[in-house]
Amino acid sequence: MKLRIAWLAILACAVVALAVLFWPRDRQSGEAPASLSTVQLDPVSRGRALVTLGNCEGCHTVRGGRPFAGGRSIPTPFGNFFSPNITQDARFGIGSWSADDFWSALHNGYAPGRKLLYPTFPYTNFTKLSRADADAMFAYLRTVAAVAAPNREHRLKFPFNQRWLLAVWRGLFFTPGVYEPDTRHDAEWNRGAYLVQGVAHCSACHESRNALGAVRSKDNPSGGLVLSWYAPSLTNSKEAGVQTWSETDIVTLLRAGVIVGGEGGHQGFTFGPMAEVVYDSLQHADPADLKAIAVYLKSLPEVPAASKDIRSGVVLANLPLVMSNGQRIYADHCARCHGDQGEGRAVVAPALAGSRVVNMSPSLDAVRIVLYGGYAPGTQLNPRPFGMPPFYPTLSSEQMASVLTYIRGSWGNGAPPILPDDVEASSTGPLW
Ligand code: HEC
Ligand code: HEC
Ligand code: HEC
Repeated sequence: MKLRIAWLAILACAVVALAVLFWPRDRQSGEAPASLSTVQLDPVSRGRALVTLGNCEGCHTVRGGRPFAGGRSIPTPFGNFFSPNITQDARFGIGSWSADDFWSALHNGYAPGRKLLYPTFPYTNFTKLSRADADAMFAYLRTVAAVAAPNREHRLKFPFNQRWLLAVWRGLFFTPGVYEPDTRHDAEWNRGAYLVQGVAHCSACHESRNALGAVRSKDNPSGGLVLSWYAPSLTNSKEAGVQTWSETDIVTLLRAGVIVGGEGGHQGFTFGPMAEVVYDSLQHADPADLKAIAVYLKSLPEVPAASKDIRSGVVLANLPLVMSNGQRIYADHCARCHGDQGEGRAVVAPALAGSRVVNMSPSLDAVRIVLYGGYAPGTQLNPRPFGMPPFYPTLSSEQMASVLTYIRGSWGNGAPPILPDDVEASSTGPLW
C-alpha cells in the first residue's frame, strides 16, 4: 500500500514537473548588450570572440586532439561525461544542424529530436545569450573543419544515466531566458554582466551546486567545488573577490594568469581549472570585453563567507610539535621559492604571508597545490611562468599537514590547522 502511494506520488511529481517544463515561460526578447569594441565586426569574428569566452573548444577537445571533435572526459559526482563532437561533420558532429537547432541547444538545452541535454554543458548560463549572438557563434562554428570522430557514451551512475529524468530536473531548476539589461547600470556594466552570467559561465564553477548538480544562483558566484578544486567566491574579497582591485589589475590577472604588485599591490596566481580557463579562453578574449567583465566583478556585493571550515575551533594538543616540524619542512622544501618569512619572490613564487589561498576555507586548494604542484598558464603576457613541484612523491601526508599547518599559522596568517586526514581526503579525484 505504502509503495503504491509512493509510486503515485512520484508519478504526480513527474506530471507536475513535465507541466512546468512545457509551460511557456521563455524569455527570448532580450537585447544583448553589444560588445564595446567589436560591434562593427562581421558575425563570424563576433562569433569567434563569444566561442572563445565560452571556452567551447577547451571542453570539446581532448588534449592534443582536433579542435571541437569532442571526447574530453569531464568527471563529476554523477559519473563521467564525454563532450560530443561539435565540428561540421554531418554524421558525428553538428554539420547537419540548422541555426534553429543550435539556438535550441544553447537557449533551451535541447538537441534535435527534443533530446534533453545534461547541464554539464552549461546551457543554464548560455541561455542568457541573445539570438543574434548565438547565430554569430553558429556562423563561426560553420568555419571549423569537420572531423569524423564518433561520440563516446557518457559513463553515468544510475539513475543519472536516465536522460528522460532531466525533464524533472529542468522543471525544478531551469528557466530559459535571454539576459535582460539592468537599466540602473551603464552599457559597459551590462556587457560585463551579460558575459559573466552567460557565455563565460563563471558561476558554473564559482557557485555551489545542490545534491542534484544545480547551480544555486547564476548571479551570485559565492564559491563552489569543481573537479576536486574549490572555485572561491567572487563575492568575497578574502576569497576571489576583486571588488577593491583596479580594473587594470583585474584585466591583467585574467589575461596573464598571474599578477604581482600591479596598481593595488595585489597578488594572484591562477592554477588548476582557472589556469586552464585563462589559457584556453580569457587570454584570447577581447580586452574591451575583459574590461567590461572587470567593471561587473568590481560591482558584485561583498558577501561574508559562511564558515565552511570544519576545523575552526579545534585545538591540536600537539600543535607546538607540529609547528616546529612544519617549520623545518618549510625551510628544507619551500623557503627557497617562497622566502624565509613567506614573503614570496616577485614573479617566481607568491607570498604565502597574507595569501588568500593559504588562509581560505575550505583549504582544499592549498592542500592540493602542495600535493600536486601549481602551474600558472603560459600566456602572451607571461609566456614562461614559474611552476611549483608536486610534493606527494617526497613528503608524507603527515609532513604535508605539518607544513600546511605551519604556513597557515605563521607570519600573520590565522587559519586553522590541517590534519593528515585532510590531505588524504583532498588527494582523491582527478587532477583537472
Ligand atoms: C564544461 C564543459 C563544456 C563547455 C564549456 C561547453 N560544452 Fe558543449 N557540451 C558539453 C557536454 C558534456 C555535452 C553533452 C551533453 C549531453 O550529452 O547531454 C555538450 C553538448 C553540446 C552540444 C550538443 C551536441 C549534441 O550532439 O547533442 C552543443 C551544440 C554544444 N555542447 C556546444 C557548445 C558550445 C557552442 C559551447 C561554448 C559556448 C560549449 N558547448 C561549451 C560540455 C561543454
Ligand atoms: C572551470 C572552472 C572555472 C571557471 C569556468 C572559472 N573559474 Fe575562476 N577559478 C576557478 C578555480 C578552481 C579557482 C581557484 C584557483 C585559482 O585561484 O587559480 C579560480 C580562481 C579565480 C580567481 C582568483 C584568482 C586569484 O589568483 O586570486 C578569480 C578572480 C576568478 N577565478 C575569476 C573568474 C572569472 C571572472 C570567471 C569567468 C570569466 C571564472 N573565474 C571562471 C575555477 C573556474
Ligand atoms: C620551485 C619553487 C617552489 C617551491 C620549492 C615551492 N613552491 Fe609553492 N608555489 C610556487 C609557484 C610558482 C606557485 C604559483 C603556482 C601557480 O600560479 O600555479 C606556488 C604556489 C603556492 C601556493 C598557493 C599560494 C597562492 O597564493 O596562490 C601555496 C600554498 C604554496 N605554493 C605552498 C608551498 C609549500 C608549502 C611548499 C613547500 C612544501 C612550496 N610551496 C614549495 C613555487 C614553489
